[in-house]
Amino acid sequence: MRKAALLTVIGAAFLWSALGASVQGQGRGQQAVQMPEGAGKEAVQMTCARCHGLNMITGSWGNTKDGWKTLFGSMVQLPNDQAETISTYLAMHFPTKPAPEAVIIQGPAKVSFKEWVVPSLGSRPHDPLAAADGSIWWSGMFANVLGRLDPKTGAMKEYPLPKARSGPHGLVEDKTGNIWFTANQNTYVGKLDPKTGQVVEYPLPEGVRGPHTPIFDQKGTLFFTTQSGHVGRIIPSTGEMKVSATPSSGTYPYGIQVNSKGIPWFVDFRGNRVDSIDPVTMQITEYTLPSADARPRRIALTPDDVVWYTDFARGYLGRFDPVTKTTREFPSPGGRESEPYGIAYSRGAIWYSESSVRPNTLVRFDPKTEKFQTWIIPAGGGVVRNMMPFSNGNLALAESGINRVALVEITNPGTN
Ligand code: HEC
Repeated sequence: MRKAALLTVIGAAFLWSALGASVQGQGRGQQAVQMPEGAGKEAVQMTCARCHGLNMITGSWGNTKDGWKTLFGSMVQLPNDQAETISTYLAMHFPTKPAPEAVIIQGPAKVSFKEWVVPSLGSRPHDPLAAADGSIWWSGMFANVLGRLDPKTGAMKEYPLPKARSGPHGLVEDKTGNIWFTANQNTYVGKLDPKTGQVVEYPLPEGVRGPHTPIFDQKGTLFFTTQSGHVGRIIPSTGEMKVSATPSSGTYPYGIQVNSKGIPWFVDFRGNRVDSIDPVTMQITEYTLPSADARPRRIALTPDDVVWYTDFARGYLGRFDPVTKTTREFPSPGGRESEPYGIAYSRGAIWYSESSVRPNTLVRFDPKTEKFQTWIIPAGGGVVRNMMPFSNGNLALAESGINRVALVEITNPGTN
């Protein structure tokens, strides 16, 4: 009991600074908000504003009483009477609003979902990692932990990071099972040895901030994006780090993947660009997408090295062909406001999640037939910021706002 309370307090203290610095807060966060009068108002102000602005509540899509209880139950543990008062108040003043609806499209693939609430409440699991041994790792960004789940038994373990307020964000596994992660709030890239819990830190050079998403190439070289307009490379055998800036200024290198020839590609979330990196010279080449207001957020590559991306701002799945330099766009089933986000390639198809529709969807797009299929994510999704396939094609998801990780099993292997 005492331990749980302590963890919550640490999480809360960290969150104030994390949200202040976070570009991804998308403006949701801090300013003072007038809450409606009524029994429960003070309890909400006391309890919920500890971690984030009350506009997370006023700006939300509302909920039923049970829905509110489940949602804040993933953030904070409260005595029953308080949970009762708060959920009654919230359901009365913030009932379910009409949100962009999930659009369900039937199709040939069959999937099943398994979802788990992670141990540290309010930890905002940002990214998932589908590990070689079948486990799912996640970055508990606001709890300063990396976590590991064994989906077979449901057993979970969290690894606290030695450096306070690291803000673990993206994570990848090397061939010997070390977990490499970007410490988004603390300007280093880390390597966790799960056997010992020890972390080696690789600090970023002066002027480089917000390490974002890491990825390994086929040779075991680590590449990563940063929020300060740079990309970086670490050669693990020597620890040597090299960083280079994008040709354009004011960029936000975001999702990154490596193609079949060892070339890293990334998307620019602050411009209408996809970029490639020369892995030897670290020179960056920018390719401009046709729509000036396109904001590609995450990237997936197909085995033919075609670049797929989620256009978060405009509600499209995009396809950029690096050979012909042509772009095609497919309107996401949930529409322009659907905010497509985490994306992956698996089993011959593109999979992604629409993060604003309620509940969030899992979307499948077949590049051969150009047909969409969609499913509702059972616990709601809470913004799936990233997803990753296992070698057997199943997908690991992190559900940041509802403090969960998920396994999507694709149950008809015949598909594609
Ligand atoms: C221990 C910290 C903590 C406490 C206490 C807390 N929250 Fe949260 N809450 C979070 C985190 C972390 C997020 C995710 C923020 C993000 O993704 O930007 C979040 C997100 C939310 C969201 C958005 C969810 C979504 O689907 O995107 C709502 C609504 C919310 N909280 C309501 C509440 C209410 C109501 C309370 C009080 C009963 C509360 N929170 C208390 C940590 C907390």
